Amino acid sequence: MDLQLKGKTALVTGASAGIGRAIAKGLAAEGVQLCIASRRRPLLEQLAEEIAAERGPRPYIAVTDAMQEDAPQKLTEDALAALGQIDILINCAGGITHMSLASAEKEWLDVMTLNYTRVRQLTFAVVPHMIEHNWGRIINVSGSSEPRGVEAGTAPKAAVHGFAKGLSREVAKHGVTVNSLSPGPGKINTEMTRRLYSEQFKKEFSEREIPVGRFGEPEEFAYLAVCLASPRASYITGNVIHVDGGAHRFAFT
Ligand SMILES: NC(=O)c1ccc[n+]([C@@H]2O[C@H](COP(=O)([O-])OP(=O)(O)OC[C@H]3O[C@@H](n4cnc5c(N)ncnc54)[C@H](OP(=O)(O)O)[C@@H]3O)[C@@H](O)[C@H]2O)c1
Repeated sequence: MDLQLKGKTALVTGASAGIGRAIAKGLAAEGVQLCIASRRRPLLEQLAEEIAAERGPRPYIAVTDAMQEDAPQKLTEDALAALGQIDILINCAGGITHMSLASAEKEWLDVMTLNYTRVRQLTFAVVPHMIEHNWGRIINVSGSSEPRGVEAGTAPKAAVHGFAKGLSREVAKHGVTVNSLSPGPGKINTEMTRRLYSEQFKKEFSEREIPVGRFGEPEEFAYLAVCLASPRASYITGNVIHVDGGAHRFAFT
């Protein structure tokens, strides 16, 4: 099936590694012109080389630390200058560490800033341009809605789900869809999960919690993001879709 993505443009945050990198490669393979963002320039350059070698359109690079207060505005301006317009926004920059009742307040604030506040701010900076063009796709890489305890990711990812749902209702009439894709409570093999979980944990958790029986690969996650970015996905909006090997337990989330 032709996903009708050739000639579209996309800004992908968190593109240097893991899920964001796989989504960037998936979009580029469909002929999407990318602006790829994260902090590590060498990894972005390596990705741009790979995409160009595979005959995709060479991505523009925007080295960005999302924790900087002006990052959303500056990244939007840089991406617009490079791409002309932003048809597709992939909000994937983020990260979670192990936290507990004893974690410092600054850690809680930082995890909220990176995983929610900057996502909202970047989306709000980009969405007026999508409305102007009467077309857009916003895809958030979020996380689990099923906390097992005091987990760093629960509140910011739930906030992403809530704001995305509200926004989807306002912008649908302008041809803009907004969806969130959740890898949790399943797990995708990335730098983050390699850092957080031992091989022993992975094995036991997969056997106990993931019906598919293993962690997923970033490409298995990226597939759905590429489909949702397509003009063909025009009737899918306001959703949280789990790409988690069947791990979430509630039937109606
Ligand atoms: N893998 C999972 O199972 C899982 C589960 C739940 C949620 N998630 C979510 O999925 C998203 C992608 O995670 P991943 O698993 O692919 O992790 P990853 O391999 O560690 O990738 C994280 C990406 O975010 C970027 N990033 C982190 N901090 C940043 C900052 N301050 N400024 C700009 N970019 C920043 C990183 O780039 P630089 O280091 O180059 O800046 C990297 O490209 C995250 O939002 C994460 O919370 C993943």
